[in-house]
Amino acid sequence: MHTSNILFSKDLISPKVQAALPKGYSIRPLANDDYERGFLDVLSVLTVIGDISKAQFLERFHYLKAHNHEYFTLVIVSPEDRIVGAGTIFVERKFIRNTGLVGHIEDIAVDKNQQGKKLGLRIIEALKYIGAQTGCYKVILDCSKQNIPFYEKCGFTQKEYEMAWYCSDEAKAKL
Ligand SMILES: CC(C)(COP(=O)(O)OP(=O)(O)OC[C@H]1O[C@@H](n2cnc3c(N)ncnc32)[C@H](O)[C@@H]1OP(=O)(O)O)[C@@H](O)C(=O)NCCC(=O)NCCS
Repeated sequence: MHTSNILFSKDLISPKVQAALPKGYSIRPLANDDYERGFLDVLSVLTVIGDISKAQFLERFHYLKAHNHEYFTLVIVSPEDRIVGAGTIFVERKFIRNTGLVGHIEDIAVDKNQQGKKLGLRIIEALKYIGAQTGCYKVILDCSKQNIPFYEKCGFTQKEYEMAWYCSDEAKAKL
């Protein structure tokens, strides 16, 4: 398959993960023409996506590419050349831990019709590989209670609690 422009170097894609995928599937960095392969449709298993135009997709793609030492979004492509899974790791630079790096996994999604084939597990393994290759001392993520067993199978353990503050107009008015 021809991908004219990918987000980051293919060298950061785990060869072990590629080898473990079902026949005909591949894992690679997000490409600038994945809009047409259904990338946003896959993300819609997570939350509201909105009516994103190709121009908006490309604007975000180019921002991420300009910061591709920090943002790594990868996708799994089916034998039919459709995006069936996606995930991101964001590498944060800290002062603590001797100017340590922390990987944050975000937006893990597997197409509804493709769930249960270990694609989610492979995405997480591939993101952990990127975290390790880029020098993170740990990789963390937030998830719903129902997904805890999935992440345990991916080698994560439960720590701490997530807190959130939504910037609604009402909340902002109280500032
Ligand atoms: C959660 C999700 C990413 C898992 O991907 P998947 O490809 O369906 O899962 P896998 O086939 O890789 O599962 C790996 C293992 O975890 C288990 N597993 C997956 N989801 C699970 C769940 N919700 N509860 C318990 N076990 C689960 C699988 O049974 C499998 O176990 P096994 O190795 O013993 O067979 C996927 O179902 C999804 O996109 N869900 C909707 C969006 C979402 O919730 N994303 C996560 C945001 S935090």
